[in-house]
Amino acid sequence: MARLVIVSNRVAVPEEGGKAVAAGGLAVAVKEAFSSYEGLWFGWSGTVTENPTEEPTLIDRGRVQYAVVDLSPQDHKEYYAGFANRALWPIMHYRLGLGAFSRSDYSGYSRVNRTFARALAKLVEPDDIIWVHDYHLLPLASELRGLGLANPIGYFHHIPWPAADVFNSLPASGDLLRAIADYDLIGLQTDPDVQNLSRNLIDTMRAIPLGGGSLMVDGRRTRIRSFPIGIDVEGFKEAAEKAGSNKVVRETIAGLRTRKLLIGVDRLDYSKGVPERMEAVSSFFASNPDQRGNVTYIQITPKSRSEVPEYEQLAREVNETVGEINGSLGDPAWTPIQYVTKAYPRPVLAGLYRAARVGLVTPMRDGMNLVAKEYIVAQSAEDPGVLVLSKFAGAARQLPEALLVNPYDRFEVAEAIRTALYMSRGERLERWKPMAERMTREDVDWWARNFLTELEHFRTVEREPPTAAQAAE
Ligand code: UDP
Ligand code: G6P
Repeated sequence: MARLVIVSNRVAVPEEGGKAVAAGGLAVAVKEAFSSYEGLWFGWSGTVTENPTEEPTLIDRGRVQYAVVDLSPQDHKEYYAGFANRALWPIMHYRLGLGAFSRSDYSGYSRVNRTFARALAKLVEPDDIIWVHDYHLLPLASELRGLGLANPIGYFHHIPWPAADVFNSLPASGDLLRAIADYDLIGLQTDPDVQNLSRNLIDTMRAIPLGGGSLMVDGRRTRIRSFPIGIDVEGFKEAAEKAGSNKVVRETIAGLRTRKLLIGVDRLDYSKGVPERMEAVSSFFASNPDQRGNVTYIQITPKSRSEVPEYEQLAREVNETVGEINGSLGDPAWTPIQYVTKAYPRPVLAGLYRAARVGLVTPMRDGMNLVAKEYIVAQSAEDPGVLVLSKFAGAARQLPEALLVNPYDRFEVAEAIRTALYMSRGERLERWKPMAERMTREDVDWWARNFLTELEHFRTVEREPPTAAQAAE
């Protein structure tokens, strides 16, 4: 039977007995992809050890087998903390000033991709289709092709793909553009991302457009299309409806008393605009003094990538900002910002989203942003809250009825918070309904099905060489 092979840096191996581990967006999405396939999920075990073995550890969990490999301290430093998260991540998020390129990190990144490919190739059967996820693994298809694999290989990029001038500032950009063309199908979050990558391949690699999103690059055919990732709508809705029985949710709501709640939920990452959002909330209280004591802002921000210096610096900056704002605006009976760095399970988040009159999702740049979608889906259909959403999040394209803001303009965000808090129930319903319907139609299952249906075509049709007319064009 043809299998689906998924490859990603992080792998969420469920505990024995099928209990799922706490999952981020990527893990939930990948789980969904397995709902109609048997298969294998390959990636990093999450362990760093002095002497990692080349052979992956195999774990069987029903229809899905997991194959995970450890990283050495040098691999982890160069591949994960270095090139993936200090060079690719800032560049992909348009943060040129934060990019820290080093040749040794790049060589570690290439080495780990090669090692992954060698270990994976031994597990792949000729009928399998392979779906690779995210920027840690851009050169993986190229390594697999080098080992002789002819299987359909797709790639989904969960984060933004920037304009050519930004991407090409990365010293390794040429290699990466060449390597990515070894995928049969490249999925990006939005149409502007597709235009950025396609334009770059055409201008820099002399790729030939063949129509329908297909390009001929160095004699190889690849297709680039947008597949906006969705969420598990039914699961989230159910969790939000049942959340009243959850202790954390109950106690948080009781603690609010009559205050209205603003909520933000983000990994501690500079792309999420957390300090900028706090400044905007502070501006809101400065220009609406009557609202002091009547509104509480809860910001849930689990620590992330603390080994990367820019993230450590951000953690300090956010602590200082929270301290300054609470110190200058708060009083013994009211703390304007409640800031927590613990991660919360999805059922708790669902309950807090539902309790919040305003969802603040204001990243400086984001591939999609699943929190925005989760906030919408968790709302009560009788009395929904208002989403304040950055226009630089991929999600803004599917959620145009939200209050769209420029996160770089704290006064605009402050004004949107005011508008959201005073919005009539009629207008809230009018904005929320079409977004909730769209989220239900375009859920995670829709996303996985669309991508995999298209990847399946590469078993046959899409591999054929271009017609004479296409080639001439
Ligand atoms: N999340 C979570 N617990 C937390 C904070 C976040 O489970 O304490 C989940 C959140 O519900 C969402 C995901 O992590 O599903 C974050 O996805 P998003 O696309 O918003 O941002 P990313 O972290 O992937 O950049
Ligand atoms: C984003 C990326 C994922 C990554 C996640 C958490 O969602 O697109 O690939 O897994 O952040 O980051 P981490 O570095 O902890 O895996």
